[in-house]
Amino acid sequence: MPFYEEGEARVYYNDSAFLNPKAKLIRDMSVAFMRAAVPKSSSVLDCTAATGIRGIRYALEAGMKDVTLLDINRKASLLAKKNAALNKTKCKVMNKSIQEFANTCGARFGVIDLDPFGGVTPYVHDIMKIISDNGYVMLTATDGAVLCGAHPKACVKAYDAVPLHDELGHETGIRLLAGYVARVAAQFNLGIEVVMAISHIHYMRLFMRVSHGSDRATSSVNELGYAYHCGKCFYHHSEKALLPTMTLCPNCGSKLSIGGKIWLGKLYGRDIMAEMEKEMRDMGLAGAELKPLQTMLGELDSPLFYMIPKITKHLGTKSVSPNAVIEHLRKQGYMATKTAFDPSGVKTDAPLVEVEQTVRRLSA
Ligand SMILES: C[S@@+](CC[C@H](N)C(=O)[O-])C[C@H]1O[C@@H](n2cnc3c(N)ncnc32)[C@H](O)[C@@H]1O
Ligand SMILES: [Zn+2]
Repeated sequence: MPFYEEGEARVYYNDSAFLNPKAKLIRDMSVAFMRAAVPKSSSVLDCTAATGIRGIRYALEAGMKDVTLLDINRKASLLAKKNAALNKTKCKVMNKSIQEFANTCGARFGVIDLDPFGGVTPYVHDIMKIISDNGYVMLTATDGAVLCGAHPKACVKAYDAVPLHDELGHETGIRLLAGYVARVAAQFNLGIEVVMAISHIHYMRLFMRVSHGSDRATSSVNELGYAYHCGKCFYHHSEKALLPTMTLCPNCGSKLSIGGKIWLGKLYGRDIMAEMEKEMRDMGLAGAELKPLQTMLGELDSPLFYMIPKITKHLGTKSVSPNAVIEHLRKQGYMATKTAFDPSGVKTDAPLVEVEQTVRRLSA
């Protein structure tokens, strides 16, 4: 049987278990997260394990002593068992659905990693039943087209929220995903805190701390609200609220697109992310592999951003570089940074009118 090597792991793979080499960076970051944030004694559930590569790497590279590899597919579980032994780990292997497991295991886990095919909505309810207080949930969604608004009806059906399908779609998509998790968690009197959120190739991945208690649940749903975006002048706004309150663009009077409910709380836990960066370097990662994390580390942690090429096109000016806009806004006393969601985007606390003036000045 052929081998695939990644990090310190070496796994057999064949048609009976899914393995995507393109997900290496996301797995690398997850290993770095475990090393940076999670005590080695925590119980870890890789609940959609396939070949087991993720959980095996958590055992080998993050020293996690209690790892369970779960998969609904019998052939995948057999392969995961072989792989756990091949890598000389003590990972336990279970062949069950996460739904059945969550209702029968009688235990809680310090870390749950969910990485199904497509969307996560059929699984979130069950993982909330078995996450420990202050435990971490990491989850990957690959239904980005739904979350980013290419199929709005499917998004409303699965997530009970309205997506934006424009240049803000990736950020609002990941916030919509976090909002959904916060609402499900709250039904179990659990609150979430997003520690890191990344949209990379066709993956959206959230790293969250989950805490128990009605107050925690209430404060996390208080982070939910709406994003407003004008497709004409590119004004944007967000507000934490139960219902949307705006319909027209205050800048140009056009009808606003409204996305929500979405998570409007923080996306980045900087202390953990800084530790993650160190861990990634220690793991031998460099250059382009560190870039997404470094961009996020430097990014203003506030909702939404301006796409500079859209603004120059709307104003009919020459193109200007996002870096020049950032520098100019900072000189005016505003906060301004790049965003990992788009290389042409600028996050800033400056109002649109200041961004427009900056663009005009720089392109003159
Ligand atoms: C995308 S693969 C996981 C890839 C793996 N995490 C990795 O990093 O290589 C999804 C896996 O989830 C499993 N799966 C799907 N539905 C499941 C369920 N309800 N409970 C447990 N496993 C499930 C599939 O059998 C498949 O092996
Ligand atoms: Zn407008």
